Parts: sequence; structure tokens; C-alpha cells
Amino acid sequence: MLNEKMEKALNEQVNAELYSSYFYLSMSSYFESISLPGCASWMKAQAQEELFHGIKMYDYINERGGRAIMAAIDQPPSEWNSPLHVFEEILAHEQKVTGLINDLANLAQDERDHASSIFLQWFISEQVEEEASVGEVLDKFKLIKEDKGGLFAMDQDLGKRVFTPPAK
Ligand code: FEO
Repeated sequence: MLNEKMEKALNEQVNAELYSSYFYLSMSSYFESISLPGCASWMKAQAQEELFHGIKMYDYINERGGRAIMAAIDQPPSEWNSPLHVFEEILAHEQKVTGLINDLANLAQDERDHASSIFLQWFISEQVEEEASVGEVLDKFKLIKEDKGGLFAMDQDLGKRVFTPPAK
């Protein structure tokens, strides 16, 4: 059974993951509005991935006898200056999420909640992957700057991404 502190902290993370999903969906809509469908599709796949993260945590709370609470989700931003600006914000956002996951892992340790420690390992690895892949895309956007051909190629490339839920 989860203790109250852990249950509250996990619920806050469910909300953070759902916010992330909303954040990426807003970015998807921004890219649709500037006619970059590949980037829009990448963002939508990312939104699905974040929803998966939220539901994975929701399932865990239930599995441990807790109660998942659907708190209000903050409104994400809706305007950016450029694709580069979007990816700069994504990297900063994912770094913040990494901090939240690390705080949760620290709490699980402090509370001697070994099951939660093991559960959170998956999220720790996931954050390493997310920061690396976003950093890679960001570097490419920095390279192409205002080059229209480069932007077109990037859009096509990012459009290839599809979200496949990982095996549990
Ligand atoms: Fe759910 Fe982007 O971390």
C-alpha cells in the first residue's frame, strides 16, 4: 500500500505528465498553423507518449491501493517564435520533468518504498532518452537556422515518427 506522501507525489506527477501531453498537443497545433505537418505529427506522437506516461503512473497508483486523482491541468502556451524556439522550450521542459522524477525517486528512497523505487527506474531511463532525442533535434534546428530547404527536410524527417506504446 502506498503511503499518503507517496500517493500525493505520484498524483502530482500524473498531472505533470498530462500537462506535458497538453503542452505537446499545443505545439502540434502551432506547427499545423505554420504549415509544418511533419513537426506537428512529431508533437502529436510526443503528446501520446506523455499520455502513456500519465496512465502508466495512474495504473501504478491503483495497483498499490491508492486513489488516482484527476486534478485540473494548467493551460499550456500556444505561441512560439520559430521551430527552434519550440525545441528550446521542450528541452527546458524535459529537464524540469527529469528534476521532478528525481525528486520522486528521492522521496521513494526516504520513505523506504522499494516498489516505488523500482517503478520509478523506468521513468529515470525514459528521461535520459527524452533529453537526448530532443537535444539532437534542437542541434539540427540550430544548424539549419533560417534555411528553407533544411527546414523542409527536417519536417519530412520528423514526420516519420510514430508512437508505439512500449511493452509494459
Ligand atoms: Fe513524461 Fe517527457 O516525460
